[in-house]
Amino acid sequence: MSRMRCVLAIVVLSAAAVQSWDVAVAVQNRLEFYSDGDKITVESNVFRNARALTYDAAHETILFIKKHTDDASICSFEMSTQKHKVLITGKDIGGFTIDPIRKLLYWTDIVERSIFWTSFKQGYKETDTKNLLIKMEDEIPGAIALDICKGYVYWTNTNLTRPTVERARFDGTEKEVLINASIQNPVSLAIDQQTKKMFWADNMGNKKYRIFSSTLDGKNRTDLISGDSGADFAPNALTISKDLMYVIDGGTHAVWEHSKYQITESLKNFGYFTEVPSGIVAKYTTEEQIQDKEECKAVMPLLHNDKIICVHGDTANGTSYSCAPGYIGERCDVSVCQNYCIQGTCSVSEEGEPSCG
Ligand SMILES: *[C@@H]1O[C@H](CO)[C@@H](O)[C@H](O)[C@H]1NC(C)=O
Ligand SMILES: *[C@@H]1O[C@H](CO)[C@@H](O)[C@H](O)[C@H]1NC(C)=O
Ligand SMILES: *[C@@H]1O[C@H](CO)[C@@H](O)[C@H](O)[C@H]1NC(C)=O
Ligand SMILES: *[C@@H]1O[C@H](CO)[C@@H](O)[C@H](O)[C@H]1NC(C)=O
Repeated sequence: MSRMRCVLAIVVLSAAAVQSWDVAVAVQNRLEFYSDGDKITVESNVFRNARALTYDAAHETILFIKKHTDDASICSFEMSTQKHKVLITGKDIGGFTIDPIRKLLYWTDIVERSIFWTSFKQGYKETDTKNLLIKMEDEIPGAIALDICKGYVYWTNTNLTRPTVERARFDGTEKEVLINASIQNPVSLAIDQQTKKMFWADNMGNKKYRIFSSTLDGKNRTDLISGDSGADFAPNALTISKDLMYVIDGGTHAVWEHSKYQITESLKNFGYFTEVPSGIVAKYTTEEQIQDKEECKAVMPLLHNDKIICVHGDTANGTSYSCAPGYIGERCDVSVCQNYCIQGTCSVSEEGEPSCG
């Protein structure tokens, strides 16, 4: 049932249009892609109430959570083909994140109080493979994020009598509580490798906006933003870009932005919406996140060694790939017609052979 709801959809847009964007916002049944003053909208029922938006630059894919009446799924939307799939279905998925280096998807299940993972080495496939990383007793894991350089999984625990932010190694060992004081309802979590910080939004529901940051070991905690919104401030999502942090506020139906580097008293409005946006993600590639970072040196070479992204043809792994007829080059991005005809107009036969006429 849930699979049907995710897969059956009409997407209205030509793929080529969504090439440059900085921030994507899910609102109602739309994904809105923003870049300098421009907005491109992709409309489909699959995006209705899409949460926890995540972008995988290597596969040009947006991933998100869809909640249904009795379960929830993690879905993918490949921007070049406009295909979507249901990847994982769970009782109630709190959050998920990807490791673009090891090609793993991690998610939390609120009902099962567990963190699970699966591999997407073979691309994003509809799968029921589910590997348990950590099973908890009193904790309710919600949002989840990774430090891909040092190898940690971070999550928020939304047991409201004892909320925390915690982390563990990629193998589930060395589980530790990082934040347990002055925390009420940590609803979202992001790790930024560039600033070596984690950011979380606390939905305290007292008109105060509260976004915190700390170092990756939970030290040097800072009220990055705190103030009075005048309306009930209800952050439901947070994302980090190259320079900024964006937060969705359910109270004002708005997206707000703020420097990720320094503390200020004010948020800048990114946009108001008629409905509450359900998810947001900034285009912040893994390369941009890990470049020039000493602790990321070991993982940097792993980023591209197994994938060639073909523009026209089948994506391959460096040793084998097949271009669509009429295209050549390592990324299948060069037309056989390029510089082919000295005179006349080049055309391509069904077999992909160029000719001049
Ligand atoms: C929350 O944690 C406390 C103690 O840490 C535990 O007693 C309680 O059962 C937990 N609540 C839920 C809903 O699991
Ligand atoms: C927070 O964690 C520390 C270290 O684990 C512990 O000593 C302290 O009692 C905890 N505080 C609360 C409020 O749970
Ligand atoms: C801790 O935070 C303060 C600002 O609140 C900053 O000046 C200082 O450099 C930070 N220290 C570390 C180790 O990040
Ligand atoms: C790449 O794909 C080819 C064909 O599918 C396979 O034979 C080869 O082992 C793969 N190479 C790597 C490095 O995964």
